[in-house]
Amino acid sequence: MAERTCLAVVLAAGEGTRMRSSLPKVLHPIGNEPLLAHVLRAVARAGAADCVVVVGPDHDAVAKEAARVSPNASIARQLERLGTAHAVLAARVALERGFDDILVVFADTPLVRPETLMKLRAALSAGAAVAVAGFTPADPTGYGRLIVQGGKLVAIREHNDASEAERAIGLCNGGLMALDGRQALGLLDRIGNANAKKEFYLTDAVALANEAGLRAVAVEVEEDDVRGINTKAQLAETEAVLQQRLRQAALDAGVTMIAPETVFLSADTVLGRDVTIEPYVVFGPGVTVEANAVIHSFSHLTEAHIGEGALIGPFARLRPGARIGKGAKIGNFVEVKQAEFADGAKANHLAYIGDARVGEGANIGAGTIFCNYDGAGKHRTDVGKGAFVGSNSSLVAPVSIGDGAYIGSGSVITESVPRDSLALGRVRQVIKEGWASRLRSLKAAGKKGGS
Ligand code: UD1
Ligand code: MG
Repeated sequence: MAERTCLAVVLAAGEGTRMRSSLPKVLHPIGNEPLLAHVLRAVARAGAADCVVVVGPDHDAVAKEAARVSPNASIARQLERLGTAHAVLAARVALERGFDDILVVFADTPLVRPETLMKLRAALSAGAAVAVAGFTPADPTGYGRLIVQGGKLVAIREHNDASEAERAIGLCNGGLMALDGRQALGLLDRIGNANAKKEFYLTDAVALANEAGLRAVAVEVEEDDVRGINTKAQLAETEAVLQQRLRQAALDAGVTMIAPETVFLSADTVLGRDVTIEPYVVFGPGVTVEANAVIHSFSHLTEAHIGEGALIGPFARLRPGARIGKGAKIGNFVEVKQAEFADGAKANHLAYIGDARVGEGANIGAGTIFCNYDGAGKHRTDVGKGAFVGSNSSLVAPVSIGDGAYIGSGSVITESVPRDSLALGRVRQVIKEGWASRLRSLKAAGKKGGS
């Protein structure tokens, strides 16, 4: 049988006033990715090759994020917020193209998993015209109730429109819905707004399907899949659930974590086998760690690549563009930005390495600063293979240190250093013999000390 085609309609026109934020609600991040991005990836993984994102009147930023994540998603505008069915109909042009399955998802429900969406699609291929995700929350107040009779979903009653008896029903509408693409427009066009909120309710598609002799079903899902976000507190709760999932996936893939609950991952973090992550490590976006590397405690990594067996931290900071080679060492209080740090190179303590290349096996001594910024522009530093930079040196960019060269401790290097040479850039030491004891005897005699 040919694979069923699928269109996802992602409703992102929601107002986010309870977030108390100037950022549109669906652009708030969890796992360092906007809520919308999580949903778009889930629908794509559930087989929706086509996708329409329904945005509000002034949500250009939302449209831009949709284009970043799903370049072939189209954007539909819902200019007036007249209800969920009205929002889905903003995607009319796409719906008219004819799909087997239509998935309707809310962009503020970021934990929805592809397998859950697949379950709804499976209900369609088993003959249902409408499949609704049902769950049983601890407190059903506010949710639409699923009215099931003899295994059939006969109606969804919104909380405001429900009778006392209907409000006693525990099974609620999670908001995810799958519709048979041949029936969807016919059902949606018949939905009216004669209800408590004077809105066009998507949920009315269920009763209309039943009237037309079509089958509607409820598919039970986990509460996390339908966890919606309206407040910053709910955003934080959802982040916690996502972190649990990411940690579990890392452990399942062979990562060692001593205290996983203290490690914060991004949705796109890539960790190889037998990577060890000590307690209290934060992964910003865009980090890849190859096999057998160790990330010691209190390190903070963003947009960085860490080679096999490298040792990072404790207290290391890897900023965007840090590329750490195999077996390299980045020790405590070392910051690396936009720099290639080749295999086996070491910077064990207290250093800043920015806009640079550090060659294989080079050693960067404690307190070394790559002076990359002159107040106007950034400049590059190049340290050759096997070079040795003595402690407390300043390398004033642009500058290059040849392969195997030595930099004397405490040097300020402003000119490039040829390979295998020694460079000293510091004041020559002066010795004044007996100076200290002369000072002491002058003080003892009650006089002022001299030089
Ligand atoms: C909706 C469901 C309810 C379900 C609950 C689950 C309807 C009528 N009710 O209620 O059965 O239990 O979700 O959380 O569907 N939206 C638009 N345009 C609109 C209206 C809404 O884009 O005109 C979007 C919102 O941004 C949101 C989603 O649709 O993402 C749901 O709307 P919301 O107002 O939150 O519906 P609920 O009252 O929560
Ligand atoms: Mg809601």
